[in-house]
Amino acid sequence: MAGPLLRIRDLHLTMTSFDGAAHVLNGIDLTVQRGEIWGLVGESGCGKSLTGLSISRLVPTPPARYIRGEIRFEGRDLLQLPMREVQTLRGKRIGMIFQDPTTNLNPAYRIGEQLVDVALAAASHDASVLDCPADASRREKRRAARRLAGDMLDRVGIPNAKARLDNYPHEFSGGMRQRVLIAMALIGRPDLLIADEPTTALDVSVQAQILKLLKGTVADHDIGIILITHNLGVVAETCSHVAVMYAGNIVESGPVEEVIERPAHPYTQALMAAIPTKQSKRGTLKGLGGSVPNLVSPPPGCRFAPRCPLAVAECTQALPSAVEVGTAHHAACIRVTGTEVASDV
Ligand SMILES: Nc1ncnc2c1ncn2[C@@H]1O[C@H](COP(=O)(O)OP(=O)(O)OP(=O)(O)O)[C@@H](O)[C@H]1O
Ligand SMILES: [Mg+2]
Repeated sequence: MAGPLLRIRDLHLTMTSFDGAAHVLNGIDLTVQRGEIWGLVGESGCGKSLTGLSISRLVPTPPARYIRGEIRFEGRDLLQLPMREVQTLRGKRIGMIFQDPTTNLNPAYRIGEQLVDVALAAASHDASVLDCPADASRREKRRAARRLAGDMLDRVGIPNAKARLDNYPHEFSGGMRQRVLIAMALIGRPDLLIADEPTTALDVSVQAQILKLLKGTVADHDIGIILITHNLGVVAETCSHVAVMYAGNIVESGPVEEVIERPAHPYTQALMAAIPTKQSKRGTLKGLGGSVPNLVSPPPGCRFAPRCPLAVAECTQALPSAVEVGTAHHAACIRVTGTEVASDV
């Protein structure tokens, strides 16, 4: 039987800043199978983007340094592969939608040309990307690629999609450019798609359309997706699984309905309690004091302990390992036993 599409094990990453080396990923474990959509959630600064960027090997080293761990894509450790091979995988097999879309379209080329290029490149390794025979002429392939570009732009909700293929990026709004990048990532037909806050800047109705498109893509092409988001509502709606991050660790993970209905880790419980009040600002959690700790000198043991309502002295002694709290549902907390969280405070 084939192994998982992606398996991250014990990934540790430090990032050097003028304060010293921040231990920003502190032993990440994450396994993604084809057909799964993993939501990666957690407060600002907890390492979601760096986890995604690490899979694409897009974190510059230095200032970053991989201390230990592995990132296996279909069995091969991306941290050990020559950069040339990683770049090939990145173009063809691992797609990424970035949190900051402003830098990722070439301002000098029309949107349509950029999408057509991606479609033709994808078709060169998977002929089924284009709706035309594999032995079609260059011209026919180009025409099919342009049709696909127009369709995809339409599916991400750009009005008048076909006509807009001839526009340049600066003629699009920020939200529209973000949607072009989503279209581009999907046209590339990756096996693994990492989408970092892909819909945060979009209207709710467009957001729903895009999330539906991502779900449809997983169903149609049996790919895996990691969806990075602050929004637990989006996770509940879209994802099959969820991993909750806190200060460089995955503190809880499992099937989405399991985690949402029976959150085991006190941090997940706090996140759940914080949905979606109009008053709660991004990055602040109702009922939880403090904020994500400084990762240059993180608190000893469980990094959540200083904010945790259930913390006891033992919590500061060692980083808790993940325990199974339900079917395929894990939480890294010593106060969690079996399926229950200790309720005494
Ligand atoms: N290039 C960098 N140089 C130094 N530190 C960095 C760099 N990029 C990220 N960091 C630090 O690493 C930590 C994790 O950052 P990351 O961008 O992964 O957070 P995030 O969970 O994606 O947050 P957000 O929700 O705000 O996007 C933060 O403390 C951040 O300050
Ligand atoms: Mg981020």
